[in-house]
Amino acid sequence: MGEGFYIYNVQNISMRRNKSDLSFFKDKDYHAFTALEKAHFISFAPYAFQASVLLRDYGILHHIQEQSKGLPFESIQEKASISEYGVRILLEAGIGIGLLYEEEGRYFITKTGSLFITDAMVNINTNFMRDICYEGAGKLKESIEDGKPKGLPFLGPWKTIYEGLTQLTPLQEKSWFDFDHYYSDHVFPLVMPKVFESNPTRILDIGANTGKFSLQCLSYNPDIHMNLVDLGKQLDVAKANLEAKGYDGRFTMIEHNMLNNHIDLPGTYDVIWMSQFLDCFSDVEIMAILTKCKKALAPNGKILINETFWDNQPFHASMYSLQMTSLYFTTIANGNSQMYDSRVFETLINKAGLHIVEKEENIAQTHTLLTLK
Ligand SMILES: C[S@@+](CC[C@H](N)C(=O)[O-])C[C@H]1O[C@@H](n2cnc3c(N)ncnc32)[C@H](O)[C@@H]1O
Repeated sequence: MGEGFYIYNVQNISMRRNKSDLSFFKDKDYHAFTALEKAHFISFAPYAFQASVLLRDYGILHHIQEQSKGLPFESIQEKASISEYGVRILLEAGIGIGLLYEEEGRYFITKTGSLFITDAMVNINTNFMRDICYEGAGKLKESIEDGKPKGLPFLGPWKTIYEGLTQLTPLQEKSWFDFDHYYSDHVFPLVMPKVFESNPTRILDIGANTGKFSLQCLSYNPDIHMNLVDLGKQLDVAKANLEAKGYDGRFTMIEHNMLNNHIDLPGTYDVIWMSQFLDCFSDVEIMAILTKCKKALAPNGKILINETFWDNQPFHASMYSLQMTSLYFTTIANGNSQMYDSRVFETLINKAGLHIVEKEENIAQTHTLLTLK
């Protein structure tokens, strides 16, 4: 088995995904019954999601998991704070979904059920769907047709989610930031040598968010001064975080809307860093942002882009998660962005008059770091 070649099971069929192979679910790999099961699963997917979340959130799955000999209905109901009817329909749904099974009057958790409550990424994605995306998901059609996030009004009266990030409820805020951070935090320590390879003195962190990347740079290199770009309210959060770690005087906050093409970025930089930032924008906007960055590059400066491209994923589950995340961008975030296919993204870079001089893939398995000049 070559590198970048993975095997895992989907509905009892051993399947492989070579990263350049986009024909993962080609019909010939499937038995017709498996294909039909998958089709039926899609038909009821919204209820499967809601029932699974409730089985988790009422603690039913946890309770059953703790008992290797399984649990009778009465013990499960005793623990859950809902009616007998409520417990019954959830348990029955859980059997069909594949989270549970029943044997001689006792309920047991399946491997899927167990992973659904213990896997960190599954939990973060599930909470993100529950608190941020679910209600607005029904507005996918309108969002595509209008090019606007028609599901966003379920969260607040903003044009984009970014305007409302500091006004979400505590639960929504936690779910959004857990999701956001989960997909980039662990990459930051790994890319430090690359960021500081050319001994930069001026680094610009665009879309700095809560300041996690800048914090990493400040602790990695005691001489560096960081410049953070974001929208106003977001920068207040980043500033508080950097000050709390004692980095007062070693950073500059630049409130700047990267979509405003009438204003240039102030200053020039040796490294311009954008992590999970350009995926927040449309094709045309990405080209405009890159053009703006090009103007702000010092001689020999470089742009570093950290992204997760869906076509570049070693596992089907990570590819699927990114493709579904695109629908969050459509319905909730801003209506015109997505998690990109690297081939589309690279075309935009070229159109903006920049070129990729280095491409490092598989960072923390799923990320790609592009160096542009
Ligand atoms: C998905 S987060 C990425 C955060 C971080 N770079 C990371 O890797 O986790 C996108 C960030 O871009 C900011 N942002 C969105 N639109 C922006 C704009 N037009 N101008 C400047 N920043 C913007 C958001 O406020 C948010 O902090």
